[in-house]
Amino acid sequence: MKQWRLRSHPEGMPQVADWELCEAETPRLRPGTVRARALLHDVAPYMRGRISGRANYAAGVTPGQVMTGGAVARVEESDVEGIVPGDLVVSDFQFGWQEQAVLEPAVLRKVDTALGPPEAWLDVLGLNGVTAYFGLLHTAEMRAGDDVVVSAAAGSVGQLVGQIAGIAGGRAIALTSTPEKLAWCRELGFADGLAYRDTGDLAAELGRLCPHGVDVFFDNSAGALHDAVMRNLALGARITICGQVSLAGRFDEPDMGERFLRQIMIARARIQGFLAIDHAAGYDTARRRLGRWLKEGRIRSRYDIVDGFGRLPEALIGLFESDNFGKRLVRSGE
Ligand SMILES: NC(=O)c1ccc[n+]([C@@H]2O[C@H](COP(=O)([O-])OP(=O)(O)OC[C@H]3O[C@@H](n4cnc5c(N)ncnc54)[C@H](OP(=O)(O)O)[C@@H]3O)[C@@H](O)[C@H]2O)c1
Repeated sequence: MKQWRLRSHPEGMPQVADWELCEAETPRLRPGTVRARALLHDVAPYMRGRISGRANYAAGVTPGQVMTGGAVARVEESDVEGIVPGDLVVSDFQFGWQEQAVLEPAVLRKVDTALGPPEAWLDVLGLNGVTAYFGLLHTAEMRAGDDVVVSAAAGSVGQLVGQIAGIAGGRAIALTSTPEKLAWCRELGFADGLAYRDTGDLAAELGRLCPHGVDVFFDNSAGALHDAVMRNLALGARITICGQVSLAGRFDEPDMGERFLRQIMIARARIQGFLAIDHAAGYDTARRRLGRWLKEGRIRSRYDIVDGFGRLPEALIGLFESDNFGKRLVRSGE
């Protein structure tokens, strides 16, 4: 079978040559495990941290190792009670960029297609659903009536944050690269937004969209978008730092924007770092609510499926160039 292994830690923006496509022995079933074949592989911005040589919040991939990453897979052999060949399973991180994996049940969930299609299990019913849910409702303590600004709004986490904000009685404002993506956010129920590539003075335009200031900022991007929002904080603003996707090309360097201590002081604002994994104890409850909203049609996602296991590195790098439109996945099987 085939595997993508990391060849070297990238300097600056990752390149396809940072990985190597290798042949490997098909892994053998061990007692208490399942062997499954990937159908859909995940690509996501957190992977930029995993391939860095620097310390991060989770152990990184070292050169020569199989690349980390989740997948939806079909079980081919099982020595686990309750999982039989033919079942679909999802692994959030541990499957890896390989065609087959042998995994313990602790790192798998069974996919129930009655709750959502396979792709949803790497999106709203996967890590990104609980990221949007806890980052907005718990960390930012979003309340009805809040103006909620979301960066990378047309992406996987962003489109969920905007819709949950609407369900919770907020007014979601999208920041995204293009008018087409902004139109999609409006279709999802975002009240307004800016296509930042076509916007001159982002801070001034945002001030027009949120004349009373921004109550909640769900920041997926860092960089210039962050700076524009920080100039528009409402009294008591809450800022969730969820990701720094705009810094993928200079991951190990500081974000060289302005400093906003004065604005934070005047607004008595709170800025808080967020990691979904700190909320693992609440995943089941959150997923029940997200699943209900999905079934009721109150949450939708757009998917961007790239065909071919051989395209995994380019599909990931494309996220850092804004070339995905919705949740990007790589189809590697049937
Ligand atoms: N903290 C956590 O526990 C946690 C968990 C999951 C995800 N996250 C974070 O959530 C964020 C979104 O992840 P996702 O999986 O949903 O990815 P995504 O939004 O589907 O894809 C990445 C998006 O980032 C935007 N982007 C790329 N380069 C940019 C730049 N230079 N400036 C501004 N925006 C840029 C692009 O949107 P535009 O076209 O709008 O530019 C692109 O579509 C990431 O920062 C990720 O690290 C955090």
